[in-house]
Amino acid sequence: MKYKNLGGTNVKISSIGLGTNFNPYHPDTNQKLISLMQEALNLGLNFFDSSELYLNGNSEKLIGQAFKKRRGEVFISTKFSPENCSYERVVKSCEASLKRLQTDYIDLYQIHWPNPIIPIEQTLKALEKLRKVGKVKYIGVCNFSLRQLKHIQKVSKLPIVSLQTEYNLLERSIEYDLLPYCEKNKITIIAYTPLNSGNILKTEKYLKIFSDLSKKYNRTASQIILNFLISHPTVVVIPATANIIHLEENAKSTEFVLEKKDIQLLTKTFTTKVINIDTGKIKVTTIPHHAAYKTIEEALTNKLNFFPSPKTLSEDIQKGDFLKPVRVKVLQKKKGDFEYELLGGRIRYWAWVIAYHGKKPIPAIVENS
Ligand SMILES: NC(=O)c1ccc[n+]([C@@H]2O[C@H](COP(=O)([O-])OP(=O)(O)OC[C@H]3O[C@@H](n4cnc5c(N)ncnc54)[C@H](OP(=O)(O)O)[C@@H]3O)[C@@H](O)[C@H]2O)c1
Repeated sequence: MKYKNLGGTNVKISSIGLGTNFNPYHPDTNQKLISLMQEALNLGLNFFDSSELYLNGNSEKLIGQAFKKRRGEVFISTKFSPENCSYERVVKSCEASLKRLQTDYIDLYQIHWPNPIIPIEQTLKALEKLRKVGKVKYIGVCNFSLRQLKHIQKVSKLPIVSLQTEYNLLERSIEYDLLPYCEKNKITIIAYTPLNSGNILKTEKYLKIFSDLSKKYNRTASQIILNFLISHPTVVVIPATANIIHLEENAKSTEFVLEKKDIQLLTKTFTTKVINIDTGKIKVTTIPHHAAYKTIEEALTNKLNFFPSPKTLSEDIQKGDFLKPVRVKVLQKKKGDFEYELLGGRIRYWAWVIAYHGKKPIPAIVENS
């Protein structure tokens, strides 16, 4: 295992951490997951990422049970949700997480998503207090844009040591701004969804490149991908797995070095082209287990209580924030005005439509082009 410094600190975290939003999850598998996490530590992974939200709090409970006797050996990061960003709620969330984690401190406490309604100074005040009393060691953010990151750094008395954000071969938006900024400013990038939820490994058109590189390095496709991501000095990854073979495989991803020319080959092959598409040409469909709005009226009413709401996000977009492009696929047959179907970024899509009254094309990645 290789270790990297957390932000500008001397704390060492494993380049391969473990994401603990296990999916699918069933309480029957609790003991298996506890053993898996203990095995992860034996394999050199000392970094476990959770949130108050994951598995309805069970993710933190599992970590607590797994490491109550080895607390000093692990680095635990967890998060509070954006609706809990007020002073009182941050403190309350932290107490509840500590209880579930069976510990008296959290190594890294992260803001899960920005909350544009509550002044960040208020959230920071709570974090400063938690840090002062020793309940939190370091603070970090997730899903912040560069503008939001610079702003929190400006107003925070404590250093922001990390940014957790999506980064994988098919989502490389951060390479334009956040990655160079974090590298320069000693902020660790914690890359989530590093394996595209496992989908990239099953995509036929990528099989050849992975098979060629796998043969050359005698490594699996996941190892090649994870190694590529951590080849950036400031990046660590947190793949989720409930499978012990995959865990062992992921743990060994740091044991080789990709040649420069292969890094370039991957960079070139997986270049994601972002194009601007008229929002009226994109059909929004609902998919199982993912509630979504089909009309702008629904999005404005926000009956599903998304937080932040599309309307709130639209205000950030008007200030110049746009986290990442939405994902679409080309419809085989044009349906009325629709030429594309929305695959990912449903709230971002409506936020953009609201921000620009449906008159500005939206940055999108076309997945099957
Ligand atoms: N901050 C945020 O807003 C945010 C958002 C999303 C995710 N996250 C964090 O990031 C973590 C990981 O993200 P994710 O679960 O979305 O995506 P991911 O890690 O890219 O993918 C997880 C999937 O990949 C499979 N997998 C893992 N290792 C594998 C291997 N070696 N070979 C083949 N398949 C493998 C897993 O299946 P098996 O179980 O079968 O191995 C699982 O289905 C989460 O658990 C969470 O901690 C954070």
